[in-house]
Amino acid sequence: MKKVIVAANWKMNKTVDECVDFMKNLLGSNIFCGDNDTVLPIVCPPSLYLQKSIELTTNCSIFIGAQDVSTELSGAYTGEISAAMLRSIGIKYCIVGHSERREYHQETDEEIRVKAINLLNENITPIICVGEKLEHRESDRTKEIILSQIDTIFTNLPLPADIIPIIAYEPVWAIGTGKTATPEMAQEVHSLIKSRLSKLLPNTNPDLFQIIYGGSVKTDNFASLLIEQDISGGLVGGVSLDPESYLKLIDTAKKLQTRI
Ligand code: PGA
Repeated sequence: MKKVIVAANWKMNKTVDECVDFMKNLLGSNIFCGDNDTVLPIVCPPSLYLQKSIELTTNCSIFIGAQDVSTELSGAYTGEISAAMLRSIGIKYCIVGHSERREYHQETDEEIRVKAINLLNENITPIICVGEKLEHRESDRTKEIILSQIDTIFTNLPLPADIIPIIAYEPVWAIGTGKTATPEMAQEVHSLIKSRLSKLLPNTNPDLFQIIYGGSVKTDNFASLLIEQDISGGLVGGVSLDPESYLKLIDTAKKLQTRI
């Protein structure tokens, strides 16, 4: 059974004490003890707290992810963090190409592809974000934009045998706005991405692609998104900052997955 991914993107939020409180809250809930074969929880705190978060969550089924990585491998790049550094502290997942990085740091699909390659070379699973802006959706260009992002990032992407990147479909107009794509809208794009990936990566079993949805996921709309065939989980910003809400999302995913 494929696990439902519930990824928390904290962005630039929380002090170290708040981070520790959050992790302790999750650990206190007991749902992460032992094997967890239905849900894959990935918490992505600011890079400053990654090591501490990993230490706090050893021996439980919560994974810690980073929010970004450098396009460079090492050297004189002040402020940057390389894939090898992430690997050296035990990171297994890393978001790349978030729309906030695309917008405020002018990241391109070509750079996102390089970041994904750097991560794959260090055995870290990239969570690769794609998504259209409001003006694209309103001018009926969603399909064209998504396919162009996917093509640039995935064409001839060298994949190690045991890692398949996670794709996060995050319509930019839905991020932090309270406007969620309807499950049907999201499903349409997820299925488009899946069929394109099957063509670009013909040696990978298409059933193994996991495409998660992000953009104003809430405790009361998560289930309706998850029942769509090609929605394998969520990448959650604002709502994931509160441990109780995050636990509710995990619980929703668990209940649905157990029913399937
Ligand atoms: P949001 O953010 O849940 O606050 O809309 C999602 C994201 O940016 O990954």
